[in-house]
Amino acid sequence: MCGIVGYVGPRGSEAVLLGGLGRLEYRGYDSAGIAVLSNGLEARKRSGKLQELRDELVANPIHDGHTGIGHTRWATHGAPNDINAHPHLADDGKLALIHNGIIENYAELKAELLEQGTVFTSETDSEVAAHLVGRAFRETHNLTDALRVVVNRLEGAFTLLVLHADEPDVVVGARRNSPLVIGLGEGENFLGSDVAAFIEFTDKALAIGQDQIVTITRDNVAVIDFDGNSVTPEPFTVTWDASAATKGGWRSFMAKEISEEPAAVANTIIGRIKGERVDIDGIDAESLVSVDRIVILACGTAAYAGLVGKYAIEKWARVPVDVELSHEFRYREPVISDHTLIVSVSQSGETMDTLMAVKYAREIGARTLSICNTQGATIPRESDAVIYTHAGPEVAVASTKAFVAQVTALYLLGIAIGQANGKGDPAELAAAVRDLEATPTLLETVLQQGERIATMAKWMADTQAILLLGRHVGFPIALEGALKLKELSYIHAEGFAAGELKHGPIALIEPGQVVFVIVPSPRDPNSLHAKVVSNIQEIRARGARVIAIAEQGDAAVLPHADEVIPIPLASSFIEPLLAVVPLHLFSMELAAAKGLDVDQPRNLAKSVTVE
Ligand code: AGP
Repeated sequence: MCGIVGYVGPRGSEAVLLGGLGRLEYRGYDSAGIAVLSNGLEARKRSGKLQELRDELVANPIHDGHTGIGHTRWATHGAPNDINAHPHLADDGKLALIHNGIIENYAELKAELLEQGTVFTSETDSEVAAHLVGRAFRETHNLTDALRVVVNRLEGAFTLLVLHADEPDVVVGARRNSPLVIGLGEGENFLGSDVAAFIEFTDKALAIGQDQIVTITRDNVAVIDFDGNSVTPEPFTVTWDASAATKGGWRSFMAKEISEEPAAVANTIIGRIKGERVDIDGIDAESLVSVDRIVILACGTAAYAGLVGKYAIEKWARVPVDVELSHEFRYREPVISDHTLIVSVSQSGETMDTLMAVKYAREIGARTLSICNTQGATIPRESDAVIYTHAGPEVAVASTKAFVAQVTALYLLGIAIGQANGKGDPAELAAAVRDLEATPTLLETVLQQGERIATMAKWMADTQAILLLGRHVGFPIALEGALKLKELSYIHAEGFAAGELKHGPIALIEPGQVVFVIVPSPRDPNSLHAKVVSNIQEIRARGARVIAIAEQGDAAVLPHADEVIPIPLASSFIEPLLAVVPLHLFSMELAAAKGLDVDQPRNLAKSVTVE
């Protein structure tokens, strides 16, 4: 996610802003910039890391001042380059704006501005907001009023900070579905996307609520709601130390990213559901009608997301789906036609195995669609179309929030195809849309089990082998859980289709063998629940220690499991999104209990850019 800093006070604002952005680097970004008021407004911004911006400020210095805003951008709309970096200027360069989030209705607002002759320099939704505030300021002559006029027209998620040369000691901010906090100093005040922005200067903070606007000067902080009513923000004291601040207060990036799994689903959905229909930006529904086969190409965790997607797409769109490991597909001389849709799934968009497989697929005539979490990455650029997941930057090597976002994007695609080709049951598709929209809240519920799962991991710290069983969409979750245990705790872990147990793997069961079982809902139409419960009895009879991940209140499981991790009631296709979270948490906690590096496991890279 983007990093945001605002400052008004006696200090040189350039250093305050750069220091704050430096502590926000953990949020991940691909460009950075600052705007400062001194004798007028000056701004500098560069793609790349913060050092690029620092170098630019040395080569092309600004007149420092005491009021400023700073931004690190994680690209969503528009490639990560100098022009799309923030801040964005308006009102003849007298206004600067920075933005975190996605403005869903930016296209119609941009059209309105273009009709009035506004000249745009970037491809971003953020610049639209800048010009809207600049236009409103010319009418209100007050920055707070101008921002309030504009935020009441915006849809989506946003944190906005603005400053204007005509109001030299003022910074105004607004938030909706995106973070913003106030830092309170003596004769100075701060704004930040989190407290890491100002923790060097103060531990006194105020929380800003949903749909609120804050105006800071050196000696005053005023908060109003979007209707203009005064609001009293909640004070709190920051308890982080500086080192924790580099991960936003989290003990690891992985912990932070697991906590963001609800938002990853919510942000991947945002703007793509209209009523009970799916409408994916950049995907022409007509082009989906002729798709008669889908081949999903991916590696590792992304491939397991593909396997979950396979079950759903075949159910909702009645189109056959194969999931292929990218590095196998390319050397297999696969049979595909020009009605085959190749869907690559990749968090980084740089995985060489997947990139080469996509290039090969295009050479042999297939249409290609990329599902990717990194704006402007190589694989989307090599594809005919892209569905970006909006999980935000994923820093930990072990992929977590990107996984749930990838499954979400595949579900959106499956519903879209089922709607387009008419083969989907309309009632079923509408229910799937509603279920997806309800998923972030259910994920928040599952996350509340974090402490209990940490305790379980601690007393299992010496475990040397773990098996995982799942059925139907639970099977890929067993595979994903096994991968997480391998890559984080370096132990033998293997996922199986539960139905496969009697065909060999049950020979692995001996007294004390730990087995996680992902249990289908007892309401499952395929009645796989009873089959899995009997699997549990079979392995328990042979001494296995069974940890069942099962629906809240599933009484059939209780007598047969050593531990039950309950997940909320959900439809069959939402259950895997919920069941994977305890496995993400457990694998992280087991690695921590073993004293291993959770974020940077041995031998692994975040993006495998070699074959
Ligand atoms: C997942 O935890 C691993 N880090 C790895 O399997 C990863 O999913 C795989 O390398 C694919 O990466 P990508 O999504 O960036 O293409």
